[in-house]
Amino acid sequence: MNQAQRTEPTMYEKIIRPILFRMDAEEAHEWTIRNLSLASGVPWICKVLHKWNCGNGKGAVRLFGLDFPNRLGLAAGMDKDGRCPGAFAAMGFGHVEAGTVTPVGQLGNDKPRLFRYPQEEAVINRMGFNNHGAESMASRISKTYPKGPGRTAVLGINIGKGKSTPIEEAARDYVAGFRELAAQADYFTVNISSPNTPGLRQLQQESYLRELLGSLQQANQERSTETGEAKIPILVKIAPDLEDREIELVVGLLEVLGYDGVIATNTTVARPGYFGNVNETGGLSGLPLQSRSDDVIRLIHKVTGGGMPIIGVGGIMDLDSAQRKIDLGASLVQIYTGLIYKGPGIVRKIAQAIG
Ligand code: FNR
Repeated sequence: MNQAQRTEPTMYEKIIRPILFRMDAEEAHEWTIRNLSLASGVPWICKVLHKWNCGNGKGAVRLFGLDFPNRLGLAAGMDKDGRCPGAFAAMGFGHVEAGTVTPVGQLGNDKPRLFRYPQEEAVINRMGFNNHGAESMASRISKTYPKGPGRTAVLGINIGKGKSTPIEEAARDYVAGFRELAAQADYFTVNISSPNTPGLRQLQQESYLRELLGSLQQANQERSTETGEAKIPILVKIAPDLEDREIELVVGLLEVLGYDGVIATNTTVARPGYFGNVNETGGLSGLPLQSRSDDVIRLIHKVTGGGMPIIGVGGIMDLDSAQRKIDLGASLVQIYTGLIYKGPGIVRKIAQAIG
């Protein structure tokens, strides 16, 4: 950021962030989610905040049959169990992606598994899909953020496979997650790109991907026939570490199969610059991911001729970096690490101005 762009530190940066950053990273995360869940349980608080944060927003957009009140969403991994989508909606997000959720709950990797790098505005995580399972999420969301007029932000649900499920049987897990949560989800994201579940990213290879995407489409069609409801939009989230040629193959397959969109990107296992000397394994996010994520969005937009909806994510730290992803061809954007460093005020700033 140059001098001209430098702004006064916000209340979050001056007071709240130093307190949170004195805590262990995962404890701070848990503390935040717990408090947001409490706020989610008090509808009038959410209503007041929503009114304050969501007035006069521009950039409402209709995409794959859904109405998004603005172009900014919460990226997956922040609200893994769908504990507080209402509070994130009240913060000003136009969509919230809960998950990644697996069919059966699991503990994830050993702690510590979440590391902040404040100078670099980055995070490394190797959480490993810690979550309470699809059934528990479905029951919670049906009570706390049910479909209907009270749902002010679109709810995406990001599904994955369990740690112990062999890659050859992965499709079963995704279909189970889809079925369990179909009544709650406005859209689904198929996560085949997290670096912290061994083998998961192999699902981006054509042979596995074809089977997985075919099975999910069949489940979607069957559900639609059974219920008489429309099919649910399904997007696929890809890794920034694929080579360009591999990205073209994946996106080509999504087009052929009629998938609704692509989310670019997940965290990276690359270790650019400063991170060359950092030994923690896991996915890197935040500012160091920004330019690769931008490149992937540009590439997908080019190879699809703008025909495939893209949700751009990776390294959004302010309005400019969010707007650039839209200008490169993304229809929507999502943020995670930027929220840790800039605080909730950034949501309103971006959501109301991006277009
Ligand atoms: C993530 N991310 C993530 N993605 C996903 O599809 N499922 C998940 O469970 C998680 N979990 C997760 C945990 C933590 C601690 C972080 C920091 C990230 C990836 C996230 O959704 C996003 O794609 C990347 O973080 C890049 O965006 P940012 O963080 O640079 O805005």
